[in-house]
Amino acid sequence: MLELGPRRQTLEPIETASRDEIEALQLKRLQWSLAHAFANVPHYRASFAAAGVHPDDLKTLDDIRRFPFTLKSTLRDNYPFGMFAVPREQVVRLHASSGTTGKPTVVGYTARDLDIWARLMARSMRACGTRPGDVVHLAYGYGLFTGGLGFHYGAEKLGCTVVPVSGGMTPRQVTLIEDFGATTIGATPSYMLSILDEYRAQGRDPRKSPLQVGIFGGEPWTNAMRAEIEQAFDMHALDCYGLSEVIGPGVAIECVETKDGLHLWEDHFLAEIIDPDTGAVLPDGQVGELVLTSLTKEALPIIRYRTRDLTRLLPGTARSMRRIEKLRGRSDDMIILRGVNLFPSQIEEQLLAVPGLSPHFQIELLREGRLDTMAVWVETTEATADETRAAHARALQKRIKQTLGITVEARVGQPGEVPRSQGKAVRIVDNRSKA
Ligand code: DLL
Repeated sequence: MLELGPRRQTLEPIETASRDEIEALQLKRLQWSLAHAFANVPHYRASFAAAGVHPDDLKTLDDIRRFPFTLKSTLRDNYPFGMFAVPREQVVRLHASSGTTGKPTVVGYTARDLDIWARLMARSMRACGTRPGDVVHLAYGYGLFTGGLGFHYGAEKLGCTVVPVSGGMTPRQVTLIEDFGATTIGATPSYMLSILDEYRAQGRDPRKSPLQVGIFGGEPWTNAMRAEIEQAFDMHALDCYGLSEVIGPGVAIECVETKDGLHLWEDHFLAEIIDPDTGAVLPDGQVGELVLTSLTKEALPIIRYRTRDLTRLLPGTARSMRRIEKLRGRSDDMIILRGVNLFPSQIEEQLLAVPGLSPHFQIELLREGRLDTMAVWVETTEATADETRAAHARALQKRIKQTLGITVEARVGQPGEVPRSQGKAVRIVDNRSKA
């Protein structure tokens, strides 16, 4: 199954445009976006003035570096509608991201914003190999989260039959995929693993499912996880990146032809990579924090938004627009354990290399005396005896020590013992302050 066949595609002209054409379009749109933000959002007027810049100062794309960054806290400080650049009556949809502390971050869309978002999502899904006429099963959460509705309107725009299931009720997910003949599925990668477990629990062979394409995002996941899902379901698994503040899903996407990083839709977003400590812009190819500026958004223009996501910019391949490398994680999720920096995704990679362990995991951070310690909670794929699980724990501990250079405690439970989520997985539980 894992070949392109009828999933080959015709691209929009902009997807194969020359760099010069793309950059000329970006410059024109960036000038509009800065002027729009400046004229209509008091925050931008004040922050541009404080930095001594005016939208008219932008003559080249590189001039964006003179403009100030926008932070998540900027949106919170202007809660709920202070960052909107159009009268509230022209905002036809709101979304919000919960955030672990304090007020949610609210984002808004005009009718034109929603149309552009749907078109970008249709383009993204087409890049993944989804075609008009496909049955698209959506297990992303519907509601204030942008995942469900973002994919929903994109799939409709593409001409698919959409099944708006949302997350949860996992046994029913399997029934609907099978009964309605879903050929594409969208879900967080961790929730897709729960759907896989459910297939096995029902005694169904996932390789015989009608699914051909899976579009996964909303949280970091590794190539090792991709291999696991592709083999289990005999389907393509593609990575989709986005964030509410910038639009939602549909900022960057892998394509089924190459699966070599995520094509960034540069006709609507301007990307920079910065050194997270100094804020200095880094050259293409260097890893740092992704900073995004919207080029066409009306309701919530966002200028130099610091995503906290770490990646690097790579040249175009199957599309002329540049790619971002599969995300390593958020700077907020980086664990510093006795001087070693690591991301949960690195644990995921090691765990998937130990036969007999399932891909579900959670990391607990603890403090013993003055020393930080880390425990990795995992489980076996099948119920096993204590000695077998102890052997798995030793194998995992050894791999982590050898590859990442840190000593962790590995706790291997029976299938189902690691907590599951229906949306984004909780990978880190920090109990250090409780010690
Ligand atoms: O998660 C939008 C989305 C929905 C993207 C569905 C893809 C699929 P937020 O809830 O605002 O929006 O969270 C955005 O999630 O800054 C990243 O840290 C993380 N994230 C999103 N996609 C990926 C990905 C949606 N493919 C935050 N890989 C972002 C790694 C991701 N992290």
